[in-house]
Amino acid sequence: MKRKKHLMFIFGLLFIINLLGYCVIQYQLEREASIEIEPKSLTEVNNEEDVNVTLLRSKDWPEGKFYHGVQYDVSILNDSSHQLTAWEITIPVPKKAKVTDSWNIVYKCEDDILTASPVDYNMIVEPHSQQTFGFILKTKEIEDIESLHAHFIPIYHSSDYPLFWANVAFTCILFISAIISIIVELRTASLRSQNLMDKHIIIQTMKTFSNFVDAKDPYTRGHSARVAYYSRELAKKLHLPDRDVELIYYIALLHDIGKVLIPDDILNKPGRLSPEEREIIETHTTKGAGILKDFDAISGIADGARYHHEHYDGSGYPAKLSGEDIPFLARIICVADSYDAMSSDRCYRPRLDNDTILDELMTNSGKQFDPEIVTAMLDLIKETNFFEVIEE
Ligand SMILES: [Fe+2]
Repeated sequence: MKRKKHLMFIFGLLFIINLLGYCVIQYQLEREASIEIEPKSLTEVNNEEDVNVTLLRSKDWPEGKFYHGVQYDVSILNDSSHQLTAWEITIPVPKKAKVTDSWNIVYKCEDDILTASPVDYNMIVEPHSQQTFGFILKTKEIEDIESLHAHFIPIYHSSDYPLFWANVAFTCILFISAIISIIVELRTASLRSQNLMDKHIIIQTMKTFSNFVDAKDPYTRGHSARVAYYSRELAKKLHLPDRDVELIYYIALLHDIGKVLIPDDILNKPGRLSPEEREIIETHTTKGAGILKDFDAISGIADGARYHHEHYDGSGYPAKLSGEDIPFLARIICVADSYDAMSSDRCYRPRLDNDTILDELMTNSGKQFDPEIVTAMLDLIKETNFFEVIEE
């Protein structure tokens, strides 16, 4: 969940950066669109934007006694990489000259100034292309036109900016990453659900086995599940790694599996057991370890069955191990097992009262039980009400 939030945050941040990139380009576009190119004179028309305007007096002829007809051809050469639009060219003409004909422009002629602008079809001068227009003047005197003024508005596109392409690449990467993340997330969710199902199957299978063990003795019904629960809580309290906390639950569930091989009449005998019968009952540890010897998917499960009756002072069975020689998980199960035995009714005695249980735990700390685990158990009893735990 935390990972998903981080991922969403990163994608959100990248998306905002991407959006800002496009905003910068848009801002640049609007700023650039207001720039105009204004050549000053015929000798200066070739400006930094590579736009050339040339005017050529191509023909003249007499018209009546006092007038001449003069034809001018104008060409606009756009060598820049931008389209040009809304162009306007102003040309000073001889005094009292009149325009008698024109092509490719609309014009007005006032105060001896001819202003030419495009018609619809030649509004845009494409990059690396040329446009021409012309006009005929009726004038008294033939004069060379030596200067003109022109201005254009260049059209800029987003793709003119390297930032635009960087942004496009960034968008693609963002998009592909988002798709990959979604696929990974879906696959992870599917694996997680598969894992959860596998876990349920394992737990239910092991619980079924433990119920089978507990069914041998009506007085110990639910014992294995409770011992597993107490063991897991103890493991948490003792700050064991999460993986071990989970494992000890499974190990404790089957700690008494060897009891399936103990005859019912001995297991459920209400009176005192003879030394031979006690010996037989004690074999449930080694028999359980034998049953679980091939169960190597859960490491330590056979040790849990074999050593959960070992005592910290070495007085337990079957191997009479002591102290740290007893596997830690078995020492935990030993405390959990004894706690449940004391807090539930048995065929040979009713449950012990709470104070007696606490006394027993403290008295046997360092003898039957590992003192560190007893301390954890006493803390747990104080913090949570274990006396009320029935079955998970
Ligand atoms: Fe046992």
